[in-house]
Amino acid sequence: MMRTIQLILAGVLLLPASKSAGQEWIVPENQAAVQNPAAYTLENVTRGKEIYQLHCKSCHGDPGKNNTLALVPRPVDIASERMQANSEGAIFFKITNGKGVMPTFESTLPEDDRWMLVNFIMNFNPDREALLIEAPPIKAALQAALNPENRTVEITAEYEESKGKYASLSEAPVIISSRQAFGYLEIGQTITGEDGKAVFNIPEDVTGDEMGNVYIAVSLNDTYEAEEVALENPIMGIPKEGGGLIRPGVLWSTNENIPVWLLFSYLFAAGGAWIFIIYVILQIAKLKKYGKS
Ligand code: HEC
Repeated sequence: MMRTIQLILAGVLLLPASKSAGQEWIVPENQAAVQNPAAYTLENVTRGKEIYQLHCKSCHGDPGKNNTLALVPRPVDIASERMQANSEGAIFFKITNGKGVMPTFESTLPEDDRWMLVNFIMNFNPDREALLIEAPPIKAALQAALNPENRTVEITAEYEESKGKYASLSEAPVIISSRQAFGYLEIGQTITGEDGKAVFNIPEDVTGDEMGNVYIAVSLNDTYEAEEVALENPIMGIPKEGGGLIRPGVLWSTNENIPVWLLFSYLFAAGGAWIFIIYVILQIAKLKKYGKS
């Protein structure tokens, strides 16, 4: 008996290992030769990128950054030589079928989407013209000050013109948010003027915490690499209803907060479970008795 269990366990544990043991991934020749039916255009590459961000980036990382997830075997950077050594048909085959940790996308993604992904991967092929060129984010610096009397935030933005030298950042979108218990809530946006300055009027009806305090944060969008500014002093807004995270009845650590229906259903369910357990124990005891006689 023990031996059988050991054998089954060993089988279960070894099966996935042998399946994904990093051997070469062989693609049938006729599959590798399949031509991409979708044209290599900026539109299709962009569409492929969107699908990539949703379904692939979590493991394969950002193209060319070698920041793939640390799995065994390790997912390949799509801009790498190893990925680009595949024919388009081979990439399509691999996306469709998967192998080991690499999932199959046959049922998750329509065929058309899989070819769009091939187009996006081809954007990093050394023999092709790259259609989608991503500009690296511009280094920028933000300053912000709250003027409580006029309910305004005064913002100054600069960008790094050359190494260590900053100049006014004009026409940059500035995002104003309120800091919440979980993340940020955008209140509004403004755009910097020629001098890199902007003024944002905080609306009267913005929601704050239970006390009505609104904590403001100021940031730039993804085009820029800038540290956000979190303003220390709050401004008054409308107090959040319901008293924040811990509403009575949400946490049942105190008995007064339990709704009656919940208390009864709990007691009923817990009582039922205990009766069942006792019943089972009694049955086992009975079995033993019969076994002896
Ligand atoms: C759960 C993580 C994971 C996700 C999600 C994932 N992959 Fe992979 N991928 C891997 C791993 C791991 C490998 C290496 C498999 C091997 O070599 O055995 C791999 C290999 C590949 C290969 C073959 C590379 C080669 O060596 O020839 C291609 C092509 C590929 N992935 C494309 C994609 C695409 C496109 C997506 C999104 C639709 C995707 N992968 C999503 C983990 C993942």
